[in-house]
Amino acid sequence: MMVNRKILTLDEFTIQQMRDFPHATGELASLLRDIGLAAKRVNVEVNKAGLVDILGDAGEVNVQGEDVKKLDVYANNQFMGVLKHGISCAGIGSEELDDFIAFDDPVSNNSKYVCLFDPLDGSGNIDVNVSIGTIFSVYRRITPKGQPVKREDFLQPGINQVAAGYIVYGSSTMMVYASRRGVNGFTLDPSIGEFSLSHPDIKCPEFGKIYSVNHGNFFQYDQNVQDYIQQCQRKNIDNGGPYTQRYIGSMVSDVHRNLIKGGIFMYPATKDKPGGKLRLLYECNPFAFIIEVAGGKATNGKERILEVIPEKLHQRSTLFIGSKGMMDELETFLKP
Ligand code: AHG
Ligand code: MN
Ligand code: MN
Repeated sequence: MMVNRKILTLDEFTIQQMRDFPHATGELASLLRDIGLAAKRVNVEVNKAGLVDILGDAGEVNVQGEDVKKLDVYANNQFMGVLKHGISCAGIGSEELDDFIAFDDPVSNNSKYVCLFDPLDGSGNIDVNVSIGTIFSVYRRITPKGQPVKREDFLQPGINQVAAGYIVYGSSTMMVYASRRGVNGFTLDPSIGEFSLSHPDIKCPEFGKIYSVNHGNFFQYDQNVQDYIQQCQRKNIDNGGPYTQRYIGSMVSDVHRNLIKGGIFMYPATKDKPGGKLRLLYECNPFAFIIEVAGGKATNGKERILEVIPEKLHQRSTLFIGSKGMMDELETFLKP
């Protein structure tokens, strides 16, 4: 079989990027390779989820009090496993773990980075064959090398992220990651088992036509959020009609679509969840970083997500994220 050598693989791309930094150690490239490897393993299981006895609840409840699906556990173990055995990651925090884990072995205690994960996002969609994903966030350790990482290494504001990304297990499987230098998307080529650069230098369009929100919660939102949603429904009536509402219920897929096409995604406060539903450290922050590098904006309705100082590993946040022009308009509604 002929392999298209014009397309860069994920490894080739990250190594090429390193060449611009003569003092780079290669640890970030190695970390992304590890994440890519775990993603390929998870992808195989996701693709056969309908066939094997991996569907359904694992019979446990996670630290958020939600049912854990078997695939969440599988994905968590895969990402934790590759990162523990790799050379770049000193410890992880995950939606599926009560507390952070410092790997605490001689190699890991000298590793440069810590990672935070939502191993499987949108897991309520597994049983119905709808796109799901993985979200990750990478920080440089604060604790000096030579010792196990501590809580403060994980509770850094999002602005300190070195890289962040996600994998969407969709009609194609894609890994998108951002560093300060840009956002790039790699599609898994199943014929060679490699993530190949398919979406170089992604920019989020300044305006789009999509708004994404759980409409079922409409009457639980604050008045100003309700007003904005109604504005989305009225929008552009003179020039082509209202915005389109799209809401999959897997944040990875919803925000991925809006990043590419332009749009806004919201998970506002509800009466039941006044602090929001999504998790700051491994859902909001990584997407805020990606969207900002791509030219968009992300806030909790009051402040920039990336500037929030986290207090707890599993802290929740409200989230408004997307195209810059649409976020600017939303902010005129949210002003006190
Ligand atoms: P997870 O599967 O990791 O718990 O995340 C689900 C999240 C997110 O992906 C999605 O946008 C949101 O929950 C949907 O929530 P609602 O069903 O309340 O709209
Ligand atoms: Mn999630
Ligand atoms: Mn999850």
